[in-house]
Amino acid sequence: MPAHAPDIRVLVADDWADYALIDSGAGEKLERVGPYHFVRPEPQALWRRRADPGLWARADAVFTGSDDEEAGRWRFSRPLPDEWPLRWGDLAFLSRPTPFRHLAFFPEHSVHWRFTEERLRARARRGGGTPEVLNLFGYTGLASLAAARAGARVTHVDASKKAIGYARANQAAANLSEAPIRWIVDDAHAFVQRELRRGRRYDGIILDPPKFGRGPDGETWRLEEGLAALLSDCGRLLHEEPGERFMIATIYAVRLSVLALAQTAREAVPHEGAWEIGEMALPHQNDERLLPTAIFARWTG
Ligand SMILES: C[S@@+](CC[C@H](N)C(=O)[O-])C[C@H]1O[C@@H](n2cnc3c(N)ncnc32)[C@H](O)[C@@H]1O
Repeated sequence: MPAHAPDIRVLVADDWADYALIDSGAGEKLERVGPYHFVRPEPQALWRRRADPGLWARADAVFTGSDDEEAGRWRFSRPLPDEWPLRWGDLAFLSRPTPFRHLAFFPEHSVHWRFTEERLRARARRGGGTPEVLNLFGYTGLASLAAARAGARVTHVDASKKAIGYARANQAAANLSEAPIRWIVDDAHAFVQRELRRGRRYDGIILDPPKFGRGPDGETWRLEEGLAALLSDCGRLLHEEPGERFMIATIYAVRLSVLALAQTAREAVPHEGAWEIGEMALPHQNDERLLPTAIFARWTG
């Protein structure tokens, strides 16, 4: 059989008012997050900077450190609040500088929040029961909140109690405290296997596994070792009946080609449907460049 070269898409998160990528280059990026400006390491930004160096110099905080996500620290040029409110469209949440160099949200994911909301709304238009969505490695909970406000019952799983605390704070900030979200501290794969044994099924599954992680009982997660089995168990956890079901897998910071992710994900979903694969990217505020952030494979059927 001849080889099939799939189309590789680039999904650009261009729907932010409260966030902007102002410039990048020389291994760093300059961003506006609400009223504040930050400089963070960006190993992909091998190109030249374009903005005025004075703009970079006036940032409110700079994260310095190696490429190792665990290392480094913030240097503030003026005191900032511990956290501040932001919005994606009308979804409110909280941003804050974390010791892991990020700002407690991942703006490139808005492309998948939108996709999730569209699938759920399309499904609601066709009628039927309340859709069930599973968000694995859910961290900030923004995907869970997007799904919940589009009418889903959401199960959000993260191994870290602290992360669940932040997600719940976002739920309150979003005024979605009454939304039907189960917050579960558990190992993602162990939870999926238990759900399969219990005979539960989901209409949508979102997973954003890290390169390395630990479950609450010390279970070790290593992406290259665990991804294929986790995806395939997620594929079995999808409902049998077609109709706006979806699965979204995203991967950061690992030497995995989008073709490798796509082929592994395709083999995991035992149903007919449409696949999209590619890269997620952030647009620069004032020029045509795109900053690549992660790879994805997503399915609907
Ligand atoms: C890459 S972040 C996910 C970011 C998320 N998509 C968001 O937008 O906020 C990884 C999350 O996985 C969690 N985690 C790591 N190992 C885990 C495991 N074995 N089971 C469940 N969650 C895990 C971490 O606590 C962290 O919150």
